[in-house]
Amino acid sequence: MCGIVGYTGGKEAYPVILKGLKRLEYRGYDSSGVALINSGLKVYKKKGKVAELEESVIGKDLHAHVGIGHTRWATHGEPSDRNAHPHVSNSGELAMIHNGIIENYVPIKNDLLKKGYTFSSDTDTEVLLNFIEDIKKNNNCTLEEALRIALKRIVGAYCILLVAADDPETIIAARKGSPLVIGIGKGEHFLASDASPIIEYTKEVVYVNDYEIAIVRPNELILKNLGNEKQTPFITKLDMELAAIEKGGYDHFMIKEIHEQSDTIHDCLRGRLLVEQSQIVMSGIEDHLEALTHAQRMVIVACGTSWHAGLIAEYMIEELCRIPVEVEYASEFRYRNPIIHKGDVIIAISQSGETADTLVALEKAKEQGAFIFGVVNAVGSSIARISHAGAYTHAGPEIGVASTKAFTGQLAVLAMMALKIGYSKGTISHERYLKLINELDAIPEKVTEILQDTSNIQAIATKYKDAHDFLFLGRGYNFPVALEGALKLKEISYIHAEGYPAAEMKHGPIALVDENLPVVFVATKDSYYEKIVSNVQEIKARKGKVIAIATTSDTVISSMADDTMFVPDTDEVIAPLLSVIPLQLLSYYVGIAKGIDVDKPRNLAKSVTVE
Ligand code: AGP
Ligand code: GLU
Repeated sequence: MCGIVGYTGGKEAYPVILKGLKRLEYRGYDSSGVALINSGLKVYKKKGKVAELEESVIGKDLHAHVGIGHTRWATHGEPSDRNAHPHVSNSGELAMIHNGIIENYVPIKNDLLKKGYTFSSDTDTEVLLNFIEDIKKNNNCTLEEALRIALKRIVGAYCILLVAADDPETIIAARKGSPLVIGIGKGEHFLASDASPIIEYTKEVVYVNDYEIAIVRPNELILKNLGNEKQTPFITKLDMELAAIEKGGYDHFMIKEIHEQSDTIHDCLRGRLLVEQSQIVMSGIEDHLEALTHAQRMVIVACGTSWHAGLIAEYMIEELCRIPVEVEYASEFRYRNPIIHKGDVIIAISQSGETADTLVALEKAKEQGAFIFGVVNAVGSSIARISHAGAYTHAGPEIGVASTKAFTGQLAVLAMMALKIGYSKGTISHERYLKLINELDAIPEKVTEILQDTSNIQAIATKYKDAHDFLFLGRGYNFPVALEGALKLKEISYIHAEGYPAAEMKHGPIALVDENLPVVFVATKDSYYEKIVSNVQEIKARKGKVIAIATTSDTVISSMADDTMFVPDTDEVIAPLLSVIPLQLLSYYVGIAKGIDVDKPRNLAKSVTVE
C-alpha cells in the first residue's frame, strides 16, 4: 500500500532514502516524509509526491547516517502535511513510519488522551507510536520491549520502522501483514517494502516474517519473535537486476511492461513448457499432483486484474480438467463464512503477493484444511510463503500500477497448470494437448507481432479519448478479457467503462447504446464467433460505435466495425494472452492523450496491503 525505506550505515542516509522512496512511489503516493537522526531528530514531511518533499527540504540540515522514509496511501486521515509520516511521539524522542492499519486504534487513543497525550494528526500510526512511548515510560523498559508489548495488544496489519533521537544508529522494525525486506550491506543495512530500493546496493536480503521484530544497526541485524526469542535471519539472493526497475528508454513503466510481454511470457514458459518432450514441468504441481488431480472443487481467490485471470482459469480448468471451479473476490470470500472442505484446492492469484484481502482469505481457507496453490509474481512475498505450493509468473518487478505483464504471466502459468493436470487426469486428448502446448509455445512470437506496430491503436485511442462511457463485450474465454479491458481503461484514463458477456446486452444494458457510445468487442475467431457477429450487428443496428479486437485473417468483423485492432490466430483457450494486449495499449494511449500520469493514476496504489 505505501512505501517504506530505512538506512543505517556509513553513507549519507537522506539520498539513499529519497531514491528509495522514488522507487516505491508506485505503491502509494499521497504524501511522503523522512526522519533523520543526527544530534537529535529531524523530520521533514509533505503532502503530494516525493518530488515535492525533495523541493521542500532544500537548504535544510539533512546530514545523518541513519534515517527512515515513507510514501503514504492514507487509510486514516486525509492526505496532508500533518498526516504524512514519519510521526513524532509526544516526548519528541521517537519517530515512526507505518504501512498498514491499526484496527483498534480508537480505544487506545481514548486511553492516551485521558493520560494527557496530544495528537497532531488523525492517523492510527501516531496513536501506535504514543502507545509505545507510554508503555516504555510506565514499564521503565527498553524501546524494543515496549514495542513488543504494544504489538501484542494491537489488532491490524503493520510494517513499522522506529527510531529514537538518542540512538543515532539503530532502526527497530516489525511486520505483520505488510511486507519488509532487509538488505545486507558491508557495515550498512537497508530496509524497504520491496527489493527495488535495495537492489543497487546489495543482492543479499532477508524477508522479515510476520510477528518478527528486527533490531538493525550498521554492523548488526538481530531478528526476534514477539516472544523475544532470537530467530536466525535467512539470507536469500535477489534474482532481479537494477535495469529491471528502470524505465529503459520508455516514457512510462506501463508501456515498458506492455512491451516486455513477449520476453516475460517466454521467461514464464522457459524450463516448464518442453514442447520437444511434449511435457510440462512444474514442481509445484508434480509434488502435489495427487491433491490437484483428485480435487473435487477448486476455488480461485483474487482481486482486480488477478481476479480476471481467475475467471479465465475457470474456463481453462473446467474445460481441460473437468474440475468444478468457483472464482471469488477475495474480499467477499473471507467475510462470507465460506464452505471449505478438506481437500478443496484454493488457487490464489496475486502479482504483489501482498494483497491483504487475498492474504487473509487464504489464511482462513488454510485454517479449514484447504490446499493452497499460489500463482504469484513477487518472489518471497507473503502469499507465496503461506501457500503449500505454487508457481511464480517470473514477469519481473511490475512497477506500473496497472497490471499488464503480470496478467499475461498469470495466464501462462494457469494454462500450463490446466494442461498438466488435465493431461495427467486423461480429461484432455493427446492431440488437443499437443496442439495447445505448441500454440502456447508460439505465443511470445505472436505477442511480438502485435507490438511491432501500435500506430493503429494510438489512432483509435485519440479518436475516442473524449468518450464519457465505454462498453467492453466478449464471450467465452474473451468475456473476462472484456472485463479486464474495462478495468484498464477505468484505472488509467478515468473514463467509466463496463464489461459484459456480449449476449447479456439484450437483457437490459443495450438500452445504453447510442451513437455516442463506443462498444469494444473482443471478437477473435473461436467457437463463439458466429454468435458474437450477431451481437456486433445488434449494436450497429442501434448506431453504437464498434471497436473490435479481431483475428488477423478476419474480414467479417472488420467490415462491420468502425475500428479494428488485429491479433494473430491461436486456440481460444490461450487467446486471452493475445486479445488483452490491444486493450492494454488502448487504455495506455487514451490515458496519455488525456495527460494522465499512467504509472501513478489518482487514488490507486500498486499493492493494496490494507483491507
Ligand atoms: C490491476 O491493474 C489493478 N492495479 C488491481 O486491480 C490489482 O490487480 C489488484 O489490486 C490485485 O493485486 P495483486 O495481483 O497484487 O493481488
Ligand atoms: N494507516 C496509516 C495511515 O493512514 C498508514 C497508511 C499506509 O499504509 O500508507 O497513515
